[in-house]
Amino acid sequence: MFRTIIAGIGKYVPENIVTNSDLQKYMDTSDEWIQERTGIKERRYADRTSETTTTMGVEAARIAIERAGTTPQDIDFIIFATLSPDYYFPGCGVLTQRALKMKEIGALDVRNQCSGFVYALSVGDQYIRSGMYKNILVIGSDKHSFGLDFSTRGRNVSVIFGDGAGAVVLQPAEDDTRGILSTHLHCDGESAELLAMYNPGTHANHWLDQQLADFDNAEIGEMFMSHAMIDKAQNFPFMDGPSVFKKAVVKIPETVMEALDTNSLRPSDIDMLIPHQANLRISQFVQQKLGLGDDQVYNNIQRYGNTTSASIPIALCEAWEQGKVKERDLVCLASFGSGFTWGSALLRW
Ligand code: UT7
Repeated sequence: MFRTIIAGIGKYVPENIVTNSDLQKYMDTSDEWIQERTGIKERRYADRTSETTTTMGVEAARIAIERAGTTPQDIDFIIFATLSPDYYFPGCGVLTQRALKMKEIGALDVRNQCSGFVYALSVGDQYIRSGMYKNILVIGSDKHSFGLDFSTRGRNVSVIFGDGAGAVVLQPAEDDTRGILSTHLHCDGESAELLAMYNPGTHANHWLDQQLADFDNAEIGEMFMSHAMIDKAQNFPFMDGPSVFKKAVVKIPETVMEALDTNSLRPSDIDMLIPHQANLRISQFVQQKLGLGDDQVYNNIQRYGNTTSASIPIALCEAWEQGKVKERDLVCLASFGSGFTWGSALLRW
């Protein structure tokens, strides 16, 4: 069995910076509220006409591929994590294959929201370990700005999210002292509707009973996305923020400890923890619970907001570019998000 190394890493964030004050033009919010509750000062929004989830992912991928000393033609599998695909189908993986003029390789799309990158990394790790593939491109990319409710009704969600992408190239390690040590994935589907975008969707189920009345009045073609659904803002993400927060501050430390225990290591052994960037207060809770110092945790939510599947690879890329992640460092990635899903990956860089 081979261990898997991250041979190259890249990130892409759009040029357009949107400050908290900019958002005040659309909704009743304030810089003070957003910074105090989330730590966010600004986020990036993709260009409306030229940038998509795929184009951002491709830009991050180009950098990762070059840094890995490879070319797009060397890649033999793509894993693309996103909650905001360019199309309902097909997924962003095949669009990446086309954009980078890659061989007719396999492309897999992962739908695990904020945990998407950790899930995708875990899948890629298994393929490398088994010897099936030698160069896997893993991308996390999300374009939130196209689909947020910018009225006051949606302010608890809309101020948090930003656009961006991160990518890595996975390869087999030359020796087994470096690379991904273990990955750990979890979900709790009981909470699926607490952080979700309900429509467009094919559901017609128990929890939306009240909506059946709308279906009765809808034309057949409208059932997938009716005017009533739009009136109820069901085409925008919904989040029960406090419930998500409470679960995240329990599950993230739990899955970090799970990764450490599996490898007979302790929190003090961590050189850098890269938590999913959902809320600076969540990261601070996690840091405190694990007894980590400021130099053991990397946060950049202040500048990018929550970029869901892109948040961990963007933060990891920045930490590496700044020399805060060095060869042989013990790095832990930990995520929590919609599903609920959560997970961790422990690696020797
Ligand atoms: O990445 C996926 C995982 N996501 C997360 O981990 C997010 C977890 N949750 C959170 O980060 C926090 O719950 C939020 C940042 C979303 C919200 O912060 P909170 O401290 O939990 O606020 P809240 O939702 O309990 O709302 C408190 C008050 C409410 O007003 P009232 O009812 O007390 O008068 C909200 O209407 O804050 C109000 N509020 C706002 N005020 C100004 C909510 N959003 C805003 C806003 N600006 N943007």
